[in-house]
Amino acid sequence: MLIDTYGRVATDLRVSLTDRCNLRCTYCMPEEGLQWLAKPDLLTDDEIVRMVRIAVTRLGVTDVRFTGGEPLLRPGLTGIVERCAALDPRPRMSLTTNGIGLSRTADALRAAGLDRVNVSLDTLRPDVFRTLTRRDRHADVLAGLAAASAAGLDPLKVNTVLMRGVNDDEAPDLLRWAVDHGYELRFIEQMPLDAQHGWQRGDMVTADEILAALRTRFHLTPEGDSIRGSAPAERWLVDGGPARVGVIGSVTRPFCRACDRTRLTADGQVRNCLFAREESDLRGPLRSGASDEEIAELWRAAMRGKKAGSGLDDPAFLQPDRPMSAIGG
Ligand code: GTP
Ligand code: 5AD
Ligand code: SF4
Repeated sequence: MLIDTYGRVATDLRVSLTDRCNLRCTYCMPEEGLQWLAKPDLLTDDEIVRMVRIAVTRLGVTDVRFTGGEPLLRPGLTGIVERCAALDPRPRMSLTTNGIGLSRTADALRAAGLDRVNVSLDTLRPDVFRTLTRRDRHADVLAGLAAASAAGLDPLKVNTVLMRGVNDDEAPDLLRWAVDHGYELRFIEQMPLDAQHGWQRGDMVTADEILAALRTRFHLTPEGDSIRGSAPAERWLVDGGPARVGVIGSVTRPFCRACDRTRLTADGQVRNCLFAREESDLRGPLRSGASDEEIAELWRAAMRGKKAGSGLDDPAFLQPDRPMSAIGG
């Protein structure tokens, strides 16, 4: 079991498969991209499957989410999913992606054993998409969503970050569109995890603002705290349901007390929190012959050091050294 000193148990593993991305969202990384990890530093497919096996067989992990960067850029993704699906116990598996390339891979991922996908989409307007992501790929994302839905990768969730003056007027339109398509839309408060270190609290569109904007067009009723559990999103029924909308208020409504997450970066470092400033190296031991139980023990120790919260409200808050794209979203 992965338990920290506050009694939280991590059962949800987020595995970053690459730090690379084919978009350049302005709230995430600069136009020129970042200094990507070198190939030899990345865990191999075999190493990833071994880590997932250790997590599910020795550490009580039940859910595995593959993230990036953009995980569809990882050539071995389908094979990794297939091998993880063969583990006993079999973890539930999901993917967080920008959707580019999903139209070609959704069926194969489903067949390999993937259960769900969350797709990031911040706007319905192709021109705004181009400004926000600096790439002209809006149609690819929509095609990816449609393919994922057709492949039965549900419930299909859409993640949206609102940027003031860019797409913050779109919240009700996005919700109308999501409800009509049967997607569960979640708005995410922008977090200080950008590579440029340009995040300012005042620029962030808050959960309260988002809810107020949605209420101009929809009737929202809280789904209830008991259902939220460890999920980052608070959810509301839209016009009486069954459609729902979520708000991930990581900054103004943190869910740290119920956090059930552990993270593995693409280069084999365990992070006990999105905002952690320390990581524990498992790749070194993995490559120098450590046994499964030795790896498991290092992982347990890493989780014992998990802090109570993100520290975002501390005046001395410091961003982690790695940006979101290198941690895994
Ligand atoms: P499901 O609800 O199971 O579909 O997963 P999820 O919402 O955790 O997954 P997803 O990758 O779609 O995450 C959505 C967003 O939640 C991320 O982009 C982050 O903004 C936020 N998030 C995920 N994990 C954490 C975390 O550990 N801490 C905080 N503060 N935010 C997180
Ligand atoms: N704050 C909030 N969300 C972010 N994402 C990327 N960077 C940030 C940030 N700084 C979102 C992406 C995607 C999800 C995985 O994380 O838009 O939807
Ligand atoms: Fe890529 Fe996601 Fe960062 Fe956008 S937010 S550049 S899709 S990693």
